Amino acid sequence: MAESLYIPESATKAEKYEAILPQVEALVTGEEDITANLANVSAVLRESFGFFWVGFYLVKGEQMVLGPFQGPIACTRINFGKGVCGAAWKEGKTQLVPDVETFPGHIACSSASKSEIVLPAFKDGKVALVLDIDSDQLNDFDEEDALQLEKLMRIVESFL
Ligand code: SME
Repeated sequence: MAESLYIPESATKAEKYEAILPQVEALVTGEEDITANLANVSAVLRESFGFFWVGFYLVKGEQMVLGPFQGPIACTRINFGKGVCGAAWKEGKTQLVPDVETFPGHIACSSASKSEIVLPAFKDGKVALVLDIDSDQLNDFDEEDALQLEKLMRIVESFL
């Protein structure tokens, strides 16, 4: 695997995603350990975009449990349908939240978090985990993030 990440400077957000997605694919290819791969994926996203918090919650029975992440300490368990993460699990759909204060039932792991995007990854037709990204800026995610991060989730599914 490559030891360093190439992140183009002065690139658009789309260009940055286009540069990092193949590198993520290379990073996980040949490694079957889920924890190791999720840890590296969260590191790539944090290093590339400087997000406030990036991490995974993995479905374990009736709850999701905190997995590999980058950023401040976070809530460890989330119930089905609860918060933004639980909504992504329940609906099996990306949740784009421009202002967390307006999302009913949002779980505030940190008061610094202002906007959020959560995407599910599937195994055998069921949500196996979600990727949660938090920003300390309002309205920090858009359809471009959703589109590109959905591609990333298809890469994540390749090692689940
Ligand atoms: N805000 C999330 C909880 C996870 S933390 O943001 C890391 C939610 O409402 O599901």
